[in-house]
Amino acid sequence: MQQFGVIGLSVMGKNLALNVRNHGFSVSGFSIDKPEVDAFAKYEDDKLKPCYTWEEFVNSLEKPRKILIQIMAGDPVDQTLQKLLPLLDKGDILIDGGNSNYHDTNRRYHEMEKHGIHFIGMGVSGGEEGALNGPALMPGGDEAAYEKVAPILEAIAANNKEGKPCVSYMGPEGAGHYVKMVHNGIEYGIMQEFSEVYNLLRDVAHKSDDEMSAIFDKWNHGKVEAYLSEITSKVLAQKDDLTSDHVIDHILNVASYKGTGNWMLEDGVALGAPVTVVAEAVMARFMSKQAHLAVKSGIKPIKFEYKGEIPDDLVDEFEKTLQLAQAVAYAQGFQQLTMAAEAYNWDLRYKSIAQDWEAGCIIRSAMLKDIENAYSKGNKLMNLFQDDYFRKLMEESLPALRKSVEFATKAGVPTPTLSATLNYLESIFNPDLPANLIQGQRDYFGAHTYQRNDREGTYHTEWYEEK
Ligand code: 6PG
Repeated sequence: MQQFGVIGLSVMGKNLALNVRNHGFSVSGFSIDKPEVDAFAKYEDDKLKPCYTWEEFVNSLEKPRKILIQIMAGDPVDQTLQKLLPLLDKGDILIDGGNSNYHDTNRRYHEMEKHGIHFIGMGVSGGEEGALNGPALMPGGDEAAYEKVAPILEAIAANNKEGKPCVSYMGPEGAGHYVKMVHNGIEYGIMQEFSEVYNLLRDVAHKSDDEMSAIFDKWNHGKVEAYLSEITSKVLAQKDDLTSDHVIDHILNVASYKGTGNWMLEDGVALGAPVTVVAEAVMARFMSKQAHLAVKSGIKPIKFEYKGEIPDDLVDEFEKTLQLAQAVAYAQGFQQLTMAAEAYNWDLRYKSIAQDWEAGCIIRSAMLKDIENAYSKGNKLMNLFQDDYFRKLMEESLPALRKSVEFATKAGVPTPTLSATLNYLESIFNPDLPANLIQGQRDYFGAHTYQRNDREGTYHTEWYEEK
């Protein structure tokens, strides 16, 4: 009998199955797409079994069955559950490893519970390579069921610098997919921050692709040690197959998305979470398409030519800027997690989440260790910048961020996420924001009432004289 089953054998499913087998567990693989099973069958050995029917697959697994569903998110997951249900036994464990919306995972968790089936919604990060050699895994659902699959998940996950596997129980219901959604929102934020700095280096400081590649590489060995710095350097250095240029100069500047970052924003808005960097990153992707369409339709582009000086310390100031901007992207993600935990009554474990993201995933970076430390001190943080380390980082790097945004404004270069970073830090700890005027206006036109800063209660003003 096989110890683990995988449904869906395209690259992610196949690589995860191979990863399980490579760690000494026996695994069955099944797909409704026969050519995928044929391709998988090439790896067949005493621990790896290709299956061509639902029955063959389900019957090949030891009980309680442990099945990873690694297929496209959405309806296909529901269809798979309907196919599986009559074949399963009470106590079996299903893991959805796709980028499912957490609302769907909440629903499926409760539906499966009625049938005595344990449903785990699990975020998987790290792409194809990670799936094969060590992803970060974010499982949520029933904790007792998680404990049963933990030995396999711990074996296949990436390990952080201390050798701890990047997988731990995230929380009940759809909490695992929620954490992955927030991971992706942070991913959008940091990617956009890097792109804005790239834009400034390219268009204003007139750095070549190779120079910019070297700069990101230096930062990756400096204050912004992160997988996204590493790959940015590599993307900028890559030569094109079709021309003798760098490939980056021939990639159309319209950003696509499957939308998990957008979901974070949707839920952030529902919760009232101030995730401004994620919001701007999502909008910047929309904007990139609109800008392209505008130019195609003949609208004259706005281009401003900066004739001013390029500061000598520009690259160093950008490094500090990006370090702080990255911290704000994480801080906003954790702030949303904190608010979600409260609203959905989930006991989220922030230290474990930080630890989980330290290796294997797309947003892995040296800073996550500092975040883990911040959440290890036992104090409940409302905001990451309450922690001494991050407070100090903010105080030290705010001047650089201000200079970068000022420089970009003078140079006529948009910096939606870097500006949002600055605005966030200058707003979030400021008790003197002008919301009093908003409240006055609301009360004026709609008698919406307001509270006072000098006495308790709810007030309304008769704002104008009756004629
Ligand atoms: C990961 C990635 C992965 C995927 C994104 C891309 O953690 O491995 O986040 O899940 O590459 O979903 O998202 P967009 O297509 O929305 O940019």
